[in-house]
Amino acid sequence: MNAAAAEPTSEGGIPARAYPVTARAPGKCILFGEHAVVHGRPELLLAIDLYTQVSAHRAEAWSLNHRTAPVRENPYLARSIADWGPPDRPLALTTASRLPRASGLGSSAAFVAAVLAVAAAGTGGCGRAELARRCYLTERGAQGVGSPGDTAAAVGGGILSINGGRGPLRWTHSDGGRSWSVRSVPDPGWTWVLGYSGIPHDTARTVRAVGERLAQPDGEELLERFAAVATEGIEAVVAEDRDRVGALLEENHRLLVEVGVSHPRLEELRSAVRPACVGAKITGAGAGGSIVALPRPGRELEAIRRIARAGAVAYGVRVAPEGVTLLEAPRPAGETLVESPEGD
Ligand code: MEV
Repeated sequence: MNAAAAEPTSEGGIPARAYPVTARAPGKCILFGEHAVVHGRPELLLAIDLYTQVSAHRAEAWSLNHRTAPVRENPYLARSIADWGPPDRPLALTTASRLPRASGLGSSAAFVAAVLAVAAAGTGGCGRAELARRCYLTERGAQGVGSPGDTAAAVGGGILSINGGRGPLRWTHSDGGRSWSVRSVPDPGWTWVLGYSGIPHDTARTVRAVGERLAQPDGEELLERFAAVATEGIEAVVAEDRDRVGALLEENHRLLVEVGVSHPRLEELRSAVRPACVGAKITGAGAGGSIVALPRPGRELEAIRRIARAGAVAYGVRVAPEGVTLLEAPRPAGETLVESPEGD
């Protein structure tokens, strides 16, 4: 893996800070191009305003939520510590999250981004492109497969296009003969509705199964169809063309069905939400997990109710404008902040 090549607009890295430190990272929702992005094709995804928070303070030994076992057993944490945690300075980590695990909503990428941000804060700070590189290497190392999309959303925030679009370049990754450039896309300000089926999925297994499907003789053609939908989808979001985005969500969903990652519960949820929406699709690896739907204007609550009535966990989300950030440390009781009139 090469170093992240460019960060012309990846402003605001993680500053150096003394412990205790708390970081917060957003989840993600993929609109177009999941699976195909693993093979270098375009993707469009949102950082969403459901967050994972990780707090760290110095300790005698590494722990997560007061237990030491997850340090060995949680592959994301084990990898984060082995690769980027200062070995001589263990941290006690506590975490809280609104993202269900294995739901397709980026819980592992948000966790990795928050852990690596608190680790970076205690080791001199880190630029955002470099943090994105570390997060990708860690998530991929833990899963064995994958693209930098999910971790880019957790680190970069906003709406991001990978290998497509014409927005400002945030950074690039290259790995194993593939490369991915990450660009910002303007946010049309819509509310998106998500439905988590409650059926957890195994991203690595699903990515491998789709990889086998794409190795069939028609695989290249399928990848080109994914790429065409994502490319048009990026343009439709930039143009704020809600109906076109909805139609393309549907088209992308049909491709995901074709590569075998739908599930009867996801189809039920799609049918339940469709009357209130311009389009709905699987989001993330599929084979369980979640759907994303784009409501018709003014019908957001109806879409949320329809998903809840169909027995799923429903969320109305908006784009999280910022990627992982350090939160201000709570000041001890009684301490007041006095600002200098000179502003220094
Ligand atoms: C998983 O959230 C998205 C996939 O495209 C895998 C990846 O990009 O790492 C299925």
